[in-house]
Amino acid sequence: MDVTAVAENPLAVAADTLVVNLFERGPAPSGLTGALDRALGGAVTELIASGDATGRSGELTVVYPRGAVSAARVLVVGLGPANTFDAEAVRRAAASAARRARELGARRVASAAHGAGINGMALGDAAQATIEGTRLGLYRYHQADEGLESFSLVDEDTEKLEVLRDGVRWGDAVAEGTRLARDLVQHPANVATPEYLADVAQGLANDHGFGLTLGDRAWAEREGMGAFLAVARAAGHEPRFIVLEHDPSDGKDAPLVLVGKGITFDSGGLSIKGRQGLEGMKHDMAGAAAVLGVMRTVGRLRSPRRVVALIPATENVIDAFAYRPSDVLRAANGTTIEVISTDAEGRLVLADALAYASRYEPRAVVDIATLTGAIDVALGPHAAGLFANDDALASALLTAAQRTTERLWRMPLWPQYIDALDSQVADLKNSAGKAAGGACVAAAFLERFTAYPWAHLDIAGVRATESTDGYQVKGPTGFGVRLLADWIMRA
Ligand code: BES
Ligand code: MN
Ligand code: ZN
Repeated sequence: MDVTAVAENPLAVAADTLVVNLFERGPAPSGLTGALDRALGGAVTELIASGDATGRSGELTVVYPRGAVSAARVLVVGLGPANTFDAEAVRRAAASAARRARELGARRVASAAHGAGINGMALGDAAQATIEGTRLGLYRYHQADEGLESFSLVDEDTEKLEVLRDGVRWGDAVAEGTRLARDLVQHPANVATPEYLADVAQGLANDHGFGLTLGDRAWAEREGMGAFLAVARAAGHEPRFIVLEHDPSDGKDAPLVLVGKGITFDSGGLSIKGRQGLEGMKHDMAGAAAVLGVMRTVGRLRSPRRVVALIPATENVIDAFAYRPSDVLRAANGTTIEVISTDAEGRLVLADALAYASRYEPRAVVDIATLTGAIDVALGPHAAGLFANDDALASALLTAAQRTTERLWRMPLWPQYIDALDSQVADLKNSAGKAAGGACVAAAFLERFTAYPWAHLDIAGVRATESTDGYQVKGPTGFGVRLLADWIMRA
């Protein structure tokens, strides 16, 4: 789908479908909706007066202008009340309108940048949100074709064109990163192997000029990554430790480092999961997918920030040489770990990645991981857990969460949680055994491997959605791409 911004009269634009918006309990339609109303001899006013169109969020009314404007059909989409209006309302409305347009067989769609100027909405943000909602709402697994030929933001005012174009560029880059993440998470584990993830990283490096290291077992051995290698010991698909670097500063700036959990399938290992537990465990690389998605976005937007992506990628499966409960491992920073559960593998591979991050003397490190079932119990599919050892970093991430509605909820890193991991034979255990506060215990474990401003995002509960709603489409959400891209671009 070709996505553009054009300075033209929307009522005369070359498109088969025109999307305009309506606020709930708003004043008489103004702007483009007002112009359309006049062109249609008051048809929109009549729809409102009759109660057929209310402007409720997500409401769609199809109007056939029969030659009064150039488009063959007009979709009037509800934005909800103006006093609570925000970018999320734009994304949701744009997604519903785009899906309806596709259902109706539309090919070329033109739209307003919804709600610019209302409740403090900047034009560029409205444009970005309209594109994000449209692209993400039209998303279909593993299909480049979204079903429309073109989508354009139209505004007659040529002075707005630059801002609209910028919004399109950002929205498009963010949506493409999210689409990449959704596809990767949805791929089955026999497709999205560690090598496959490495190939994707290679593609990003080629496209955007990133630095790339693809570490194999021997490389990880040299790095002393005993925890990562233990998890990978029984893996049939060869593990990869992926290092991807976007560096416009030629090594001068302290980077932002992203770490993504890349367990391509989590069987639990010898502490094997049950039938139910195995379901969805192809999703256990959703953190890695988000990090690759962010790198796509950062590359396309040519971020001025130095960004490093670290992805420990392996499956967690079993053979005769599989690591066992009771084994003692040595992580890259020398910390020894007693394995209590081979199903607490995420924190092991992240431990080595977090230790590896130290060499960059990073400005901040954010890891993103489907780490614990406990975070899903705590927050459900509505927010990811945020753990941070630095308040400024936590607050920057919470701002990005607010802007993107990829919700974060801050969780504690109290020292009592690490007490639960005292070991008689090593520096710490990898699991406390019992479930209490599991997400917090896991985060406390990770903190032991950090020596810089750090945040951990536990996305086990938000990695996928059960039903299509707004710009979320049943299946993987791509959670973290919009959030982290927003954070990086504003850092
Ligand atoms: N990958 C799982 C976490 C998970 C669970 C993600 C459900 C998505 C849905 C992780 O590796 C795991 O198995 N965690 C254990 C930790 C326990 C053994 C301490 C868990 O949450 O039960
Ligand atoms: Mn596990
Ligand atoms: Zn796991």
